[in-house]
Amino acid sequence: MQPLRAGQGLRGQTGVPGDKSLSHRAILLGMLAQGRTEVRNWLAAGDTEATLGAARALGVPILRHDTNTLSIDGGCLREADGPLNFVNAGTGIRLAAGIMVGQSFPSVLDGSDQLRRRPMKRVAEPLQLMGANISTTDGRCPLHIRPAQLRGVHYVMSIASAQVKSAVLLAALFADSPTTVVQPGPARDHTELMLQAMGADLVVEGNTVTLTPGKPLQPLNLSVPGDFSSAAFLMVAASVVPDSEITLTGVNLNRTRDGLLDVLRAMGADIEVIERGVEGGEPVGTLRVRSAVLRGVEVGGDVVVRMIDEFPVLMVAALCAEGETLVRDAQELRVKETDRIAVMAAELRKMGAEIEERPDGYRIVGPQKLRGAEVDGHDDHRIAMTLSVAAMIAQSQTVVHDIACAADSFPGFPQTLQALGVEGEVRANGA
Ligand code: S3P
Repeated sequence: MQPLRAGQGLRGQTGVPGDKSLSHRAILLGMLAQGRTEVRNWLAAGDTEATLGAARALGVPILRHDTNTLSIDGGCLREADGPLNFVNAGTGIRLAAGIMVGQSFPSVLDGSDQLRRRPMKRVAEPLQLMGANISTTDGRCPLHIRPAQLRGVHYVMSIASAQVKSAVLLAALFADSPTTVVQPGPARDHTELMLQAMGADLVVEGNTVTLTPGKPLQPLNLSVPGDFSSAAFLMVAASVVPDSEITLTGVNLNRTRDGLLDVLRAMGADIEVIERGVEGGEPVGTLRVRSAVLRGVEVGGDVVVRMIDEFPVLMVAALCAEGETLVRDAQELRVKETDRIAVMAAELRKMGAEIEERPDGYRIVGPQKLRGAEVDGHDDHRIAMTLSVAAMIAQSQTVVHDIACAADSFPGFPQTLQALGVEGEVRANGA
């Protein structure tokens, strides 16, 4: 439980934890490399720890120099003693499925009750087309995998999903001929960038990616940049809480991830990139965010996949904005850790918000005043963190139950808010 209320504007400078997508990939690709991969600023969070645990269960020696610094000795996997447990990590299980179908031993991939509710056919089907012996449990996990010879395919994806694209590309490493994946939109490209940095023969042309197997993967020496999706909560908070000015350092600004920046700016947000660089093969920057008067915006099309994890927190910006915000083409939100359209709308309604749910998004007419309430994170980190941001603009105190799940992607989230001046209290079971 966490009573939360912003007393005044958010102020100060902070970094954000390492990127979750890159931290999963550092483990999963590192375990395939010929030699030792070194990773700094690795995200030690619920989801990524699950992937690390699965790698260890596959016999991968992982040396932990400190919480966020790892050495991974890649190149030889062995059969695990039991099912691999990915807990809540959708990225972990789906990418690992692409790797495990190419191994010479069987495996079972499983997770929490929450993960067992999420769709897995989206990865099993393309892998089956490649000849993989993988079966789901009524379309969900546990996934049962047995060894099989894989062939290259030309796969046209029906949903813009980086997890599906990555699973196919990782399986393609073990196929007997090239694989081409055609994506409907610009899903995050971290797997492609990392595989190229490791020396794989991978060519990207627009939305088409071709991988030709055969080249051994070289180990990486990687410093993981800060997670844009974690910075997003602070960006929205500082935009909507009056009298705020914060600086966020070392944020990953990969163009396949920063859709929220474009949308917030279109809403009138005052966000400047004051320094740019490159970290771990990804563009990074320092963001300065000041509070601003926002106006509603229409969001749909290609930008949706570039900000898929940011639609919960965009709701808070929309509630503060003048006029209508309409989100469409975002039906993928319904199959995340929770149905993020339904759950967010239900929780924000407890605070007095009026939100029109749509099958593929939502419509909000602002500005609206929120009142404090008892709300619940539903074991979904992005829901819990969005509710904490909503709490800052509410007129009385809010208690966010299950804030601890924020640590699935943003360990230290409540403490980061406090350091930026948010008045609140983290109780014993807080993250
Ligand atoms: C991720 C891809 C996205 C995103 C998830 C992380 C990744 O999922 O929502 O948080 O690291 O590849 P989809 O690929 O299912 O859209």
